[in-house]
Amino acid sequence: MREGTRTYAWSAAPGWMVSALLLLVLLSLLGGCVSKKEPAGDGVTTIVFKHGKIAGDPALLRRLIETFEARNPDIRVKDETLPASTDEQHQFYVINLEGKSRDFDVLSMDVIWVPEFAKTGWLRDLSHLLPEGERDEFFPGPMQAVTYRGALYAVPWYIDAGLLYYRKDLLDKYGLKPPQTWQELVKTARYVTEKEPGLYGFIWQGKQYEGLVCNVLEYFWSNGGDVLKNGKVVINSPENVEALRFMTDLIGRYGVTPRLVVTAIEEPTRHIFGSGRALFMRNWPYAWNIFQREDSPVRGKVGVSRLPSFPGKPSASTLGGWQLGVNRYSRNPEAAERFVRFLTSAEAQKTLALTIGYKPTRRSLYRDPDLIAQQPFIASLHDVFMTARPRPVTPYYMLMTQVMQSEFSAALSGTKSPEDALKSAQEQIEQMLGAE
Ligand code: GLC
Repeated sequence: MREGTRTYAWSAAPGWMVSALLLLVLLSLLGGCVSKKEPAGDGVTTIVFKHGKIAGDPALLRRLIETFEARNPDIRVKDETLPASTDEQHQFYVINLEGKSRDFDVLSMDVIWVPEFAKTGWLRDLSHLLPEGERDEFFPGPMQAVTYRGALYAVPWYIDAGLLYYRKDLLDKYGLKPPQTWQELVKTARYVTEKEPGLYGFIWQGKQYEGLVCNVLEYFWSNGGDVLKNGKVVINSPENVEALRFMTDLIGRYGVTPRLVVTAIEEPTRHIFGSGRALFMRNWPYAWNIFQREDSPVRGKVGVSRLPSFPGKPSASTLGGWQLGVNRYSRNPEAAERFVRFLTSAEAQKTLALTIGYKPTRRSLYRDPDLIAQQPFIASLHDVFMTARPRPVTPYYMLMTQVMQSEFSAALSGTKSPEDALKSAQEQIEQMLGAE
């Protein structure tokens, strides 16, 4: 009935009234459209920046993004966080880029992924963002990692290398020095933990994931071993067997490493050390800034040095770090490139180093007086980063690491002997590379 009444009201209205009403409806619709379109009409482009979870306060990165937005009023940046683990982030990108996703414009990539992503055609060529003369300013390791067939597919954002953190206060208390060799580390850890009940000796990252490979390679290299040499697979060598056995002994025979490391990634070990429960820790440089916070139980008590090595061999750190690239399918590549340029600038890298503790990929910052005043050891890190060893730079790295992760993990958890694990890794990697 009501419908009928309404129909009647319409048909009974004079013609001018109907026209006026229609005009009003049209105008309001148009108005709606205009106001909705306004931001775009203003030329504001929104880009999405994907990155891994920040250890520490996420507001620190947000503040830097706001600086960019203030200077680029035509761009808004939505930053979206992925899990902290590199393996999970890799999986996210493979699934989404395989599906040609346009849901993100800028992506932060682990140093090991760029050749793979570039080969697959998922990244925009960014060679024009870094003029030749500026490239020398960056550490060579990450520059090599972002170069594929002569072109740059990302810009190095921050750099990582494995470091030894130690409790300076406790070593001083017992008149001891930071260890130069792995054997010295064992001796020192046993000595101090006997006197300090409840203290772990040495913690590191032993879960089956990428970080485990980073840890194991540091023992291989610091014993003269390697994974590939002149294109040949050399993972099953006496040096590597000895190094892997030493790692299992840290947990078993020497008892200086608690068994919990076989399930630990970076953050749990950082928490244990940061709460004052370990003498030594292997970790990336980011942990330092967190230890120096006002409320940190270890503030002012932590020293950092190069990792130890086997006697007579040089110390070796795995090269890590993150690079910024632009999604090939991005709808806003110019805005995305402007943001990459800003976030990798010396100014932004310095801010990130002072706040979050991410270490710059631009070498000149290692002489920056503000950075040296806040982190006195930063100048010595320059050499560590210059000599840090890259994991094999190949588009097939992710296949190789799957094998290494499971074989190394089997050796650490005791389900395989180091000999068997490395023999099996050798066979699988040879087969894999032979098939390519
Ligand atoms: C850090 C490094 C990265 C490495 C990862 C392993 O994020 O920067 O290169 O792959 O740790 O957990």
